[in-house]
Amino acid sequence: MAKPKRRYVCESCGSVSTRWQGQCADCGEWNTLVEDTPKTVFSAKHDLSTGGRSIRFEPLDAPGEMPVRRTSGLAEFDRALGGGLVPGSAILMGGDPGIGKSTLLLQASAHIARAGGEVVYISGEEAAGQIRLRADRLGLSGAPVRMASTTSVRDILTTLGEMDAPALLVIDSIQTMHSDQIEGAPGTVSQVRGCAFELIRYAKENGVTLILVGHVTKDGSIAGPRVLEHMVDVVMSFEGERSHQYRILRSLKNRFGPVDEIGVFAMEGAGLAEVGNPSLLFLSGRDEPLAGSAVFPAMEGTRPVLVEIQALIVRLQSGATPRRAVVGWDSGRLAMLLAVLEARCGLNFSNAEVYLNVAGGYRLADPAADLAVAAALVSALGDKPLANDAVWFGEVSLAGEIRPVAHSPIRQRESAKLGFARGFGPVSGAGAEAGMTFSGLAMLPNLVDRILGHE
Ligand code: TYD
Ligand code: MG
Repeated sequence: MAKPKRRYVCESCGSVSTRWQGQCADCGEWNTLVEDTPKTVFSAKHDLSTGGRSIRFEPLDAPGEMPVRRTSGLAEFDRALGGGLVPGSAILMGGDPGIGKSTLLLQASAHIARAGGEVVYISGEEAAGQIRLRADRLGLSGAPVRMASTTSVRDILTTLGEMDAPALLVIDSIQTMHSDQIEGAPGTVSQVRGCAFELIRYAKENGVTLILVGHVTKDGSIAGPRVLEHMVDVVMSFEGERSHQYRILRSLKNRFGPVDEIGVFAMEGAGLAEVGNPSLLFLSGRDEPLAGSAVFPAMEGTRPVLVEIQALIVRLQSGATPRRAVVGWDSGRLAMLLAVLEARCGLNFSNAEVYLNVAGGYRLADPAADLAVAAALVSALGDKPLANDAVWFGEVSLAGEIRPVAHSPIRQRESAKLGFARGFGPVSGAGAEAGMTFSGLAMLPNLVDRILGHE
């Protein structure tokens, strides 16, 4: 029999390499590679063509077998899932600590339990008393959720085996779970994968919807369990700034629905409230259109984020050297854009102080921000507010051309979904995106005309 090949798995990102290294080549973490020898190695001597059981082939169309989705009681959650929870599916829910994963899942659990579905909520992170306290605070303590605090997958599966299968099983979190069949501490790749495998198998065999909470690593991927992303049907990410109120639930993978649906929530005193019209999220405080404010659909990796760019221009009495201050953007880039606006559009910033701020402490690195910054600057200079429902994106060249940027359709789709009905950007970006009227601008002077009303 062939000698089993050694392989090493990174406990942080799950990448596999054939030799041990101090630093993972993929995610750059140190001392995260552990040996992971595949238990069974098949050799040519084992003939797999006989001795098995015959499998039964199925037709592609089986009328009446479409799974009936169950509502979570939170329309925004259902929307992000593509229409509710599918029985027998496994969902991985990732997000930063403290973002509200446990709160969301407790709210959904309570709703389903109250609607008559059996719900088992297992926490490996909090004691029963803590969960009770949260339920109390959320006004959910009367809901008939079966709650337990444990980390043993064997205990969980034994207990589930002795009762009728629940409609929903929540495991908070998969990194705290432990199987005595597998070596290693909870949270290691082999434990996480092994525990998830057993839980998913139980869910599939019994038509249970399984939700696994997963921690997220520094770079934003779902930790260790990146391996889990292949095993589950749905991967969701719960995002937001802990210091801010709003949360976005996004599906990154969905075997039962589209992946570009998002759910929007606000974290309030009594848990997560749904934000039915998410455009309010960005327009609040902007009810009156303000000069100098432009909304930019930025891309973070492959994901769009809408940010507000604010510009303020203060005319100086002649003589003093004007200040240029930037928060959240590159000051060199601002200087370039001001020069292009002066040289190509005939605007004059020379005796004015220019302040630029990206709202919410967000740091922009996306080159497509140029057009939104230019729009904010022109709007501030002319004291002409931009339309409240408009977004702006595109790269500006030294010649004043508005250049194409990546992910134009995603930027438009996400903006439309968040309530922005008008988009301005490179001519190449024009295309039919639902809910969005897109105007292509060829040159920076077209933008200036548009805003200052010479069009
Ligand atoms: P939690 O659901 O514990 O986050 P996670 O499971 O993702 O780690 O949420 C924790 C935060 O939410 C905590 O900082 C307090 C806040 N919170 C509220 O603001 N209101 C509430 O009603 C609840 C339950 C939590
Ligand atoms: Mg939690």
